[in-house]
Amino acid sequence: MKDWTPYSWKKLKAAHQPKYPDQKILDNVLKQLRTYPPLVFSGEVELLKTQLKEAALNKRFILQGGDCAERFIDCTAENITNKIKIILQMSVILTYCARRPVIRLGRIAGQYAKPRSQYTENINNQEMYTYRGDGVNDFQPDQQKRMPDPNRLVKAYYHSVITHNYIRAMISGGFADLHHPYHWNLHSIEDHPEWAKYQQTVEHILDAINFTESFGGLKAESLGKIDFFTSHEGLLLDYEAALTRKNAENNLYYNLSTHMLWIGERTRQLDGAHVEYFSGIANPIGVKIGPSISSDELIDLCKKINPFNDPGKLVLISRMGAEKINDILPSLIQCLQKEKINVVWSCDPMHGNTMSIGQHKTRRFVNILSEIKSAFQIHKNLNSTLAGVHFELTGEDVTECIGGIQDVDLKDLGKNYTSYCDPRLNYTQSMEMAFSISQWLAKQ
Ligand code: PEP
Ligand code: CO
Repeated sequence: MKDWTPYSWKKLKAAHQPKYPDQKILDNVLKQLRTYPPLVFSGEVELLKTQLKEAALNKRFILQGGDCAERFIDCTAENITNKIKIILQMSVILTYCARRPVIRLGRIAGQYAKPRSQYTENINNQEMYTYRGDGVNDFQPDQQKRMPDPNRLVKAYYHSVITHNYIRAMISGGFADLHHPYHWNLHSIEDHPEWAKYQQTVEHILDAINFTESFGGLKAESLGKIDFFTSHEGLLLDYEAALTRKNAENNLYYNLSTHMLWIGERTRQLDGAHVEYFSGIANPIGVKIGPSISSDELIDLCKKINPFNDPGKLVLISRMGAEKINDILPSLIQCLQKEKINVVWSCDPMHGNTMSIGQHKTRRFVNILSEIKSAFQIHKNLNSTLAGVHFELTGEDVTECIGGIQDVDLKDLGKNYTSYCDPRLNYTQSMEMAFSISQWLAKQ
């Protein structure tokens, strides 16, 4: 920690970094990025940390969600609006049922890089780099287009700026329409017998909103104060370091490209470059933990990333899979309890439940639901708090995950599959998920 700088990670092995063909172009791009303004303020980052600390005490709940990988072509008013809308609408359901404020944390405005298991792949008898997100290379299966291009880092910065700007405009412009239940678009499932049990909740929410509105409580001024935070996986360390700035008031370093960053399951090596970089910045840090992690490894990881045991700093996002969570998560929770290590627990029920069917990756709605249900139960049994959930979702009517009341079928997968990476819950599946979670959350 003592020798930490935004570049001290350079001495260590950095997994999943693109191999750029021309170092000079990369250096110029990074030089430029270092001069660009930040996208968020350190005060907002600190506010999120305070709220996360409250989430660990059961006083708030974290709803983190968005695309697996954002695409530059989706940086449109309609698309961003729909993503914000689904997160807001889910948050209304959760807030109402759980009687606690929800931290809305988009997986948005910077989610442009992906780790991949293979560096190259063979398509039509041509060996080419795998697609690593729009911030690295082009999705089109063409050798030239798949070449990692440093100029895409600048494009990623611009697209993040545009997205942040639009989100801020929506929020300060008053977005009541977007999260008001009158605008929920659930007609396709309103006749379904399963839906009836949610109908009453919707009516209660409408009632509560009408009641508050009649007192002038939901006027634009108060809505403008609703917080919306952003996050992305901090994968490309050159980019993240270029957007890291020292705060002159408290002498701390903040990554000001977003409010929160997380380290992926594939880059959380204790002696690796990612853990080194994230151990020195003041942002809240998520760490994805999958079934292969041991208790000792987890303890060391927590101590390294959060050396002062700050309660709102480290968010552990378990992603075990519905089948494994009951065998693995309890002992991890217990070992941290024993060591008195402060963490904020969240559950990502997506990444441990992925399967490939033909050319598509998919996930079953029931498995996603089952993993969250187990996570709630496990935390409750151990007197721990499940402080949040992490989803890959979209506001669009895609057919990427199977099941739910809408019953997306295996044979429907190809109908509207637009993700370049992992499958997301669609609008209706996301709303249904919020209703289901809220029942368990209310009992927490
Ligand atoms: C992701 O969140 O898209 C991801 C790659 O997750 P994980 O690191 O948990 O595999
Ligand atoms: Co993913």
